Amino acid sequence: MSKTFDILVAGEINPDLILSGDVVPSFGQVEKLVDSASLTIGSSSAIFACGAARLGLKMAFAGVCGNDVFGHFMLDEMQRRGVNVSNVVVLPEGQTGLSVILNQSSTHGIGPSPSNERAILTHAGLISSLKVEDVTEDLLRQSRHLHVGSYYLQTALQPGLPGLFARARSMGLTTSLDPNWDPSGKWHPFDELLRQVDVFLPNENEALALTGTVSVEAAVNDLRQKCKTVALKLGAQGALACRGEESVHVSALKLQVVDTIGAGDTFDAGFLYGYLNGWSLEKALSLAAVSGSLSTCSAGGTSAQPTLEEAMRHV
Ligand SMILES: Nc1ncnc2c1ncn2[C@@H]1O[C@H](COP(=O)(O)OP(=O)(O)OP(=O)(O)O)[C@@H](O)[C@H]1O
Ligand SMILES: [Mg+2]
Repeated sequence: MSKTFDILVAGEINPDLILSGDVVPSFGQVEKLVDSASLTIGSSSAIFACGAARLGLKMAFAGVCGNDVFGHFMLDEMQRRGVNVSNVVVLPEGQTGLSVILNQSSTHGIGPSPSNERAILTHAGLISSLKVEDVTEDLLRQSRHLHVGSYYLQTALQPGLPGLFARARSMGLTTSLDPNWDPSGKWHPFDELLRQVDVFLPNENEALALTGTVSVEAAVNDLRQKCKTVALKLGAQGALACRGEESVHVSALKLQVVDTIGAGDTFDAGFLYGYLNGWSLEKALSLAAVSGSLSTCSAGGTSAQPTLEEAMRHV
């Protein structure tokens, strides 16, 4: 039976304010000018949802935001990109979170390469307020797949996630999880949850930190025992994926990178597009890597996310 939504995302909602320029901020009321400033869709989960909608998947979002300028900006922008936000809980008593990102386009040798240095200040606001109860039975019934991003930021959601994923699976949904970074540095393991995850989507550093290993091979060997499919992001080195005995690696595209904000989330969107359409592991991984790479061609997480047609030219 066909469902209203391909993917239901249970995630965090906040915009990014991106400032770019050849500057290092200084305290002491020192004012410096930057080259550009833009308010864009931020947060891993929202960027993912927009990337998947851009590829043609039918997307619904369960989340929490404030009844404020940032919250309304996010809801309007997500809706404009085809993400159904009618189930997002708007809480008048809280503030929508915000990340201020300073992209340093260095011309005098600071940082590993031009425009690759990034400082981020985040006000969490309501980011961690989403609860399992906000992911309604009705939404689950209407969806084929459940995705959770930014596991470590979603502290109110964490305790109920194994139960939520188990319930989703019992209703016939498949599940995916992108842990993203743990700002606390504690990296508490979540093996009970991993057993309910069909597709696990960490990047290299996250996989190493989570498994307490020092090589990608060791991390993958650990993770492949715990969940069915692992797709591991390796930045400019591409990505690898494994399912059962099968392992594949694909390269990233070589292109002029403006910034890599949201590359991982756009990768997730590409991988899940292939997964939900029954593609081979290699083809799904290839669409993922291509989508991630193309998203780096302009500023912010969503502005360069490809359509399926644009991405397939490189797969
Ligand atoms: N510098 C780059 N050049 C080309 N492609 C890139 C680059 N960085 C990332 N990508 C593409 O995007 C994919 C995912 O990126 P990355 O490994 O940075 O994920 P991530 O660390 O989870 O990102 P995020 O910051 O969104 O959480 C990579 O597999 C690759 O295909
Ligand atoms: Mg990531």
